[in-house]
Amino acid sequence: MPEELVLPSTKDRAEMYDAVLPQLEALLSGEDDVIAAMANICAVLNTAFGWHWTGFYRVVGDQLVLGPFQGPVACARIAHGKGVCGTAWAQHRTVIVADVEEFPGHIACSALSKSEIVVPVLDRDHVVRAVLDVDSVLPADFTTLDAEGLERVCALLSSLFA
Ligand code: SME
Repeated sequence: MPEELVLPSTKDRAEMYDAVLPQLEALLSGEDDVIAAMANICAVLNTAFGWHWTGFYRVVGDQLVLGPFQGPVACARIAHGKGVCGTAWAQHRTVIVADVEEFPGHIACSALSKSEIVVPVLDRDHVVRAVLDVDSVLPADFTTLDAEGLERVCALLSSLFA
């Protein structure tokens, strides 16, 4: 296991994803516990990008239940189709919200969050098993570059679901 992350000195997001992905792959190799993998993914993303909140919600029955995260305390349960997380789950797609106040039904866990991206985590059968939620204090902080980067991150988990 690498002892510490090697990150580019620039804040360029594309460079950052290119640097982080292989290190995450190395960090997760041989780990078959999905919670442990999610926890280290959150730590790596938080170290690399420093967003306000970075975490997973797992699908448990008909709800999303809070999983590993980095950041302030958050709501523990989200219903299917509710908020940005429940929408990404229900619609089976990444949702980018430039201004959380403009998203109908947005669940405000922190008043500091201004924009958000939620990426579904799919298993090998393409069933949504969790979502990765990232919140930023900056408005419009996420683009398709982040969607692609974070979808690559979430793909690292797909083989870990039973
Ligand atoms: N804002 C999310 C809820 C989770 S927190 O942001 C950590 C939503 O609307 O689903």
